[in-house]
Amino acid sequence: MDFTDRTAVVTGAGSGIGRATARRLAADGARVVVTDVDLEGARRTASTIESDGGDASVRELDVTDDAAVKALLAEVADTEGLDILVNNAGLGQLPTRIEDTDIETRDRMVSVNALGVWNGCWAAVPLMRETGGGAIVNVSSLAGVIGAPRMATYSLTKAAVLNFTRAVAAEVGPDGIRVNAVCPGFVDTQMVEEFFAATGDPEKSREQTEGMYPLRRLGEPEEIANAIAFLSSEEASFVTGHGLVVDGGYSAY
Ligand code: NAI
Repeated sequence: MDFTDRTAVVTGAGSGIGRATARRLAADGARVVVTDVDLEGARRTASTIESDGGDASVRELDVTDDAAVKALLAEVADTEGLDILVNNAGLGQLPTRIEDTDIETRDRMVSVNALGVWNGCWAAVPLMRETGGGAIVNVSSLAGVIGAPRMATYSLTKAAVLNFTRAVAAEVGPDGIRVNAVCPGFVDTQMVEEFFAATGDPEKSREQTEGMYPLRRLGEPEEIANAIAFLSSEEASFVTGHGLVVDGGYSAY
């Protein structure tokens, strides 16, 4: 993929899939604005990009802060141009029955996972429209496509992201803006480590999970980054409103 002269903003880029995506876009020539609520994590991502010879800047950003999202994207659009936005920031859910989920967790998850993506699209669309287009990739989940037991709250937010993606894509296609989603299965990140740890037997839980995937393993963050890079690129110029499932075949049977 070639992202020369393109600027990309990645949210939640201080760790996991966001970090791998920022690195991938930078390796293919993009100037990457690495954002995260965890400033230290974002700095680590940016320094890896820079030591690989890429171009990165760092900004602290909480995606639930709509005014901050709007201000940051406007500043990027003004100074470098806003070509690509990856709405990746998200919170995982530890395995919890619906009736045991507390209201604070519900609200926080909706706020970060669903409204955070809303904030990004809301802020980016008018800026991209002004310059004749752009590409937005929202990170949904396999849990947004199929119902995941004991992850109902997470599933709620990720299904919202997927259908929101379709709706926005239909609305802004005439403006040259493509909006897509990726729907990863289990990917080996800190989020999934915490999920396995919460089961009380992380090794067994990991082994059982891996056994449910035709490829008999979890995904790697870089494999999701590859899909995000494709959807962000000119190679996907006729792809919009799509939820690309990247799940090692989990949903195939
Ligand atoms: P991670 O926990 O490694 O990274 C998430 C990042 O988001 C962290 O750096 C965190 O600081 C940041 N973040 C959290 N709240 C934020 C906020 N309010 N504003 C800005 N940044 C915030 O998790 P991972 O696995 O890399 O997840 C990335 C995305 O991928 C999430 O949206 C997640 O739901 C999604 N996903 C992950 C899967 C997995 O198995 N790891 C599977 C499917 C989807």
